[in-house]
Parts: sequence; structure tokens; C-alpha cells
Amino acid sequence: MTLRAVVRGVGHHLPARVVPNSEFESRLDTSDEWIRTRTGIERRHFAAEGETTSDLGAAAARAALADAGLAAGDLDALILATSTADLTFPSAATMIQDKIGMTGGFAFDVQAVCAGFVFALANASALISSGQARRVMVVGAETFSRILDFDDRSTCVLFGDGAGAVVLEAAEGEGTARDRGVLATDLHSDGRYRELLYVDGGVSTTRTAGQLRMQGNQVFRHAVEKLAETAHAALEKAGLNSGDVDWIVPHQANLRIITATASRMQVPMERVVVTVQDHGNTSAASIPLALSVGRERGQIKRGDLIVMEAIGGGLTWGSVVLRW
Ligand code: COA
Repeated sequence: MTLRAVVRGVGHHLPARVVPNSEFESRLDTSDEWIRTRTGIERRHFAAEGETTSDLGAAAARAALADAGLAAGDLDALILATSTADLTFPSAATMIQDKIGMTGGFAFDVQAVCAGFVFALANASALISSGQARRVMVVGAETFSRILDFDDRSTCVLFGDGAGAVVLEAAEGEGTARDRGVLATDLHSDGRYRELLYVDGGVSTTRTAGQLRMQGNQVFRHAVEKLAETAHAALEKAGLNSGDVDWIVPHQANLRIITATASRMQVPMERVVVTVQDHGNTSAASIPLALSVGRERGQIKRGDLIVMEAIGGGLTWGSVVLRW
């Protein structure tokens, strides 16, 4: 028997304010047409003044709990993937813990930028399979609008705010790829690529939050190469291949990256959950948001084999193979 981390509930939350591409046209030398054709993004949500990452994360966590039919007291742990925590400390995970009324167990943040949800999911799966926790909430929540340079057209049009969450629960499996739950994970980072995507401020340097800086075409090149590679590696660890995949649920950064990765994996776009047009790049929130929306649309069903893949600042990248 193998202990597997099985998804019991999923949910998401988006801030009310929707920002269409056209809003950038009045103040920057850009166009709806450029943004759509280069990125696939049509709109994104921005948090309201005073609306924080932990507010978005708590709303998504409550939705996931309701979907699971569980209460906050049923959770043993809460892991939040974010790069835009409310404060330098305490962790935004503990703020979400408080907001949902979870007074026991433990909570912590994971920082792997856009790959954060995949890293957090791998950690949650390890906690469950090692018997350290039975039920783990994994949240991805971000307010990237707070670290954007709204004078830089090459970055500010790409990102959005939002949150998604899954509740994982221990279940005994046979130890084969037919089991439900997390079947394999594959994680990587390489700090030599720091300059490609970073925020130019921080506690121990500038004492400010800073703004996002990116060499977009370089990140693009690494993404296309590394995402298909890590997805293949995770599938191989699970004893599976691309032909077994029901859904790719990719990090939603750019439609051209999503399409190129699916093509390298030889998975048709009909089997890819795409939400980037509505959310932009919500960093660590993008995969759980896409899981929740994909389930809502009726795309993701019990028993489906899902591959999640993501890349972000660091660089960090990785993938998770999971049977829903
Ligand atoms: N509107 C109009 N023109 C823009 C623009 C915008 N919003 N942003 C950039 N441009 C311009 C550039 O200034 C450049 O102009 P120049 O040739 O006069 O210098 C031109 O478009 C081409 O820039 P380039 O960066 O080569 O374009 P691209 O095809 O690589 O597309 C990105 C730019 C950012 C969309 C693309 O590189 C990308 O998506 N990269 C990955 C980013 C990402 O997803 N990062 C997060 C990963 S977690």
C-alpha cells in the first residue's frame, strides 16, 4: 500500500476589478492587438486598494473547503505559494490560517515564484506520504499588481492578481499509476539565471518591495525548453507517457509558451486547460486557478490524468503528475 495525496476539493477567488487590455492603451505605447497576439492575454483582475494576498488566498481556501465538505479544523497543514506576501513576516500562510479559522496544525509560505504551486504541491504530497499530515490545504495566491512597473510595457501588461486552492487528503493506493492522487513530481532550480526575472528590491537590500524586471525573450526560450523536459521527466517517474495525459494544466504565462510546450509533448491543445486570456499571469496562483476553472467548465473529471508544469524566477521549474 502507498499513501497518496488525493485532491478532495478545489476552489478559486478573483478580485472584482477586471482590467481589459484597452486600459493600457491610453497610457502606454501598446495595443490590445499586440498583447493578444504576443501573449494570448485579453484581460486580468487587479486587487482593490487594501485587498491583500491573504484575503484572496483565504477566499480561495474557503471555496476549496466547501467543495471538499470539510471545515478548517479538519486540516493538519496549510502551505501557501506566493511571492507577494502581505508583510515581510509573519507568513501570509499564517494569515490565511487565521482568516479561515484554522487554529491547529501548521502553516508556511513557499517561495518559488511562478513555479511556487508545483513546489508547494510536491511538499504537501511529501508531508502526506510520509505520514506527517493527513489533510493539507495548498494555496497559490498573488497580488503581482503591487510589484509591477506601470511604465514598462514589456512587463506590466502580462500579470494579474488571484488565488486558487486545493485540499489534499491521504488515501491508500496500490502504488501504481492507476492510483488517484499525486503520482510523481519533478523539481529544479538554477540560481545562475537570477537576472532573467527578478524584483529589484527587498528587505536586506533596498528595504523596499521593489518592481518586477524581466528579459522576456530569454525567459521565453528557457520556458519552452525546460517545461516539456520536466513534464516528460515526471511522467517517466510515474511510468507513464504523453499519450496517457488527459489534461495539461500549465502555468498560464503566455499562450505561445503553452502551445509550444503542448506541441513538444505531442499533446493536442484540446487537452490543455487554458485560462491565460482571462487572468493573465497570476504567478503561483495560475495553476490552482486553472484547476478550479477547468473543473467548473467540466473539463477535469475524477480519474483524469493531469500534468501540471511551471517555470518562474530563479529560475525555478518543475511539474507534478496527478490523477484527479
Ligand atoms: N506593447 C507593444 N510592444 C511591446 C510590448 C507591449 N506591451 N512589450 C514589448 N514590446 C516591444 C518591445 O519593446 C520590442 O520592441 P523593439 O523591437 O522596438 O525593441 C518588441 O515588442 C519585441 O520585443 P520582444 O521582447 O522580443 O517580444 P517577444 O515576442 O519576445 O514578446 C513577451 C515579449 C514578454 C510577450 C515574451 O517574451 C514573453 O512572453 N516572454 C515570457 C514572459 C513570461 O511569461 N514570463 C513569466 C514566466 S513565469
